[in-house]
Amino acid sequence: MNSPTQGTDLFAPYQLGPLHLKNRMVMAPLTRSRAEPGNVPSQMAPEYYSQRAGAGLIVTEATQASPAGQGYIATPGIHSDDQIAGWKKVTDAVHAAGSHIYLQLWHVGRISHPDFLNGELPVAPSAIAPRGVQTYTADGLKDIPTPRALDTGEVPQIVEQFRQGAQNAQAAGFDGIEVHGANGYLLDQFLEDSTNQRTDQYGGSVENRARLLIEVADAVASVCGSDRVGVRLSPGSAFNDMRDSHPQQTFSYVVEELARKDLAYLHLIESSQRPCEHPIPDLSAHYFRTLYPGTLIVAGGFDLERANRVLQAGVADLVAFGQLFLANPDLPERFRRRAPLNVPKRETFYGGGAEGYIDYPTMQQGPLSGVQVQV
Ligand SMILES: Cc1cc2nc3c(=O)[nH]c(=O)nc-3n(C[C@H](O)[C@H](O)[C@H](O)COP(=O)(O)O)c2cc1C
Repeated sequence: MNSPTQGTDLFAPYQLGPLHLKNRMVMAPLTRSRAEPGNVPSQMAPEYYSQRAGAGLIVTEATQASPAGQGYIATPGIHSDDQIAGWKKVTDAVHAAGSHIYLQLWHVGRISHPDFLNGELPVAPSAIAPRGVQTYTADGLKDIPTPRALDTGEVPQIVEQFRQGAQNAQAAGFDGIEVHGANGYLLDQFLEDSTNQRTDQYGGSVENRARLLIEVADAVASVCGSDRVGVRLSPGSAFNDMRDSHPQQTFSYVVEELARKDLAYLHLIESSQRPCEHPIPDLSAHYFRTLYPGTLIVAGGFDLERANRVLQAGVADLVAFGQLFLANPDLPERFRRRAPLNVPKRETFYGGGAEGYIDYPTMQQGPLSGVQVQV
């Protein structure tokens, strides 16, 4: 491995396409389910994101490119003028606070409910329901029905929704777009064979199953240039009832195809959730690094020491932090001083108001009552 990153640490700057990042820390995309009516970003969102502008790069919570792409209550969109205006306040606040921000663009596919879709069924590559998965609607937790398989003729509309979403994100002032190809949502559903039993050009071979993801990445790049496009993948994750018969081949193919596209980055979630497979395939970032010479972001349970180890080994160029950034607006400064960290409060992850959103204290503000501190 001959990464230019080798030997560096989290506090070294990094050139990400046209963006100069002040450090190697990324705020991971985090759904917070606090959008306002019309799925407009919360009025608190500019404060929430700018509080975390110590990150070299912020990736927003997953944001639906179209109304059909929604699967949970109060997730923001980027398909209406009000949503674009709401996001503009966020990008302005983050830029004023000295960081850069990408929008994570998604379509949930089968992980949805007719309540979000005017009574229509969710769409997916094939009519296969996720087992044991529910979603939060306005009336609480509901079972997810068996989705409807998209007609071949409908697939270009999905690509167009992502392209339009990217154009809207550009209008809202984002520095780039992260295509959400992870965690069992629509693009991942096409990619992995447990959810894709199509017989057209979007199913069957890995080339066919990867086609939609690649078309979406190209469409988004046609709007803002490939050096402002990232793609997130989660090889090995069983979240949302995902499996693949040959995950190493599937993800190797995709990673190699993406490597040809000169993207801003590939963002891998490392995970050990997949039920035991024999022999256990190597789905680590270390393995995929050998296939991907461009900028690699890794996420998944990182702390300061582990992050510095992967950077120093040259396995990744940037490291994303999810729950730690959620609970520590000044995470980079805390890491720099090796200060104690606030512990994330799970009960306020999704929905609600300011509590657990914009009230996690900085080091100067001291510990929040009821929030434990870990050293
Ligand atoms: C509350 C919460 C919301 C999340 N929302 C998203 C999301 O919108 N998009 C996404 O790709 N991953 C999402 N994730 C996954 C995180 O981005 C990250 O990959 C995961 O939390 C592992 O990193 P960590 O151990 O540093 O938290 C979410 C995770 C949490 C805890």
